[in-house]
Amino acid sequence: MSRVGVVGAGYVGLTTGACLAHLGHDVIVGDIDADKVRRLTKGDVDVLEEGLPELVAEGLATRRLRFVVGAAAAAADAEFVFLCVPTPEGEGGDADLSVVEAAVREVAPVLPPGAVLVNKSTVPVGSSGHVGRLLRAAGAVPEVGVASNPEFLREGTAVRDFLSPARVVIGADDPTVAVRVSDLYRDVQGPVLVTSTASAEMVKYASNAFLAAKVSFVNAIANLCEAVNADVREVTLGMGYDPRIGFEFLHPGPGWGGSCFPKDTAALARTAARVGDDFPMLAAVIATNREQRDRVVGKVRDAVGGDLAGRTVAAWGLTFKANTNDLRDSPAIDIARRLLGEGATVRGYDPAGGEAARGLLPGLEVLADPYEACAGADVLCVLTEWDEFRWLDYERVATVLPGRAIVDARNVLDPAAMRHLGFTYRGIGR
Ligand code: UGA
Repeated sequence: MSRVGVVGAGYVGLTTGACLAHLGHDVIVGDIDADKVRRLTKGDVDVLEEGLPELVAEGLATRRLRFVVGAAAAAADAEFVFLCVPTPEGEGGDADLSVVEAAVREVAPVLPPGAVLVNKSTVPVGSSGHVGRLLRAAGAVPEVGVASNPEFLREGTAVRDFLSPARVVIGADDPTVAVRVSDLYRDVQGPVLVTSTASAEMVKYASNAFLAAKVSFVNAIANLCEAVNADVREVTLGMGYDPRIGFEFLHPGPGWGGSCFPKDTAALARTAARVGDDFPMLAAVIATNREQRDRVVGKVRDAVGGDLAGRTVAAWGLTFKANTNDLRDSPAIDIARRLLGEGATVRGYDPAGGEAARGLLPGLEVLADPYEACAGADVLCVLTEWDEFRWLDYERVATVLPGRAIVDARNVLDPAAMRHLGFTYRGIGR
């Protein structure tokens, strides 16, 4: 079993650290946020991630998982150091590598000979070479290796995605390094693929862009379905049975968001532009996503008779998707912002992200109860696919929501049942 350092205790770093400890490795996770380190040391996990608090508790109990302040403290004496720091969207859509670079400079002087710096942060193709040069410039000994090991963790199912992955991709230009990193994963249930570092970096961007394209495609089909009187739920069912298409990522909605797809599609477009490729298909995927958010706003506007000024909208679901408390680049928040901009009052509710949403948008009211959010509203807009929305008491909603209109931007409700209760119902593509 190996001594592993993890730099960054966000959802990727924490999941990576906790899962590697669960697999028997001796893991130290370093983060710059001393408060977070203190909370994690007590087993207090603030991201909503199924199974993660249990794995952190297990790691703390076995002492195979420890938390420290700073990257160097996690990296000293480590055989492997995983970089799991954010690469937000920077100037003009490029990935901002400043946090990665700062972490590399901090760990370089303490990495022992034979250590491998494994990059899990999403970085543009060619970054491993850049990291290698930076390492040497920052004083790392020559015997330190570099590998790329992109993450494919979905928020909400990150633990499962780590321990039973569709695949593990290890990019290393040195075969010995590749074999050593692969060995860390010997007990995970999934295929391990070794590639060059550039290919591994490209796998990550190509995968996220492809999934974003799938969602944009189905959103475009949903709009066509509305125009020709077809039901997108039936259409995607008919498509999904074809194993070449599959059922996943075929759910229309208010457009994709979150901390990954928007920034990764923008960064891939920049990579293409840099080599003189317009990549019009990717541009269309991004533009379709923007339009989808406009369409949902349009549906809410239609539901209140064409003018949102002075109207009240109940917004259920504020996170970027269900089963997370993450509000980053949430389509729901963007839509709420636009509704407020058109003069509506927005009364939000979210099963997990409500607290964090308070104060996020000037004017956005956040209620602790879904029925309260509907009180006096002209229309209810369902913006994320939280399971609990399927099981609420819609007779009660009908009594508190005088407008009796629903815009179901995730198609989670039964249109016939809603109409039976006296609501006008607008879904997506049905
Ligand atoms: C995504 C990828 O799925 C992960 O494999 C990847 O590791 C991660 O980004 C990352 O790069 O870190 P995540 O951002 O957690 O994971 O979210 P997804 O579940 O992929 O959803 C992305 C967006 O697409 C959400 O806004 C979601 O609501 C939307 N979506 C997804 C749909 O509108 N319809 C679908 O059918 C699927």
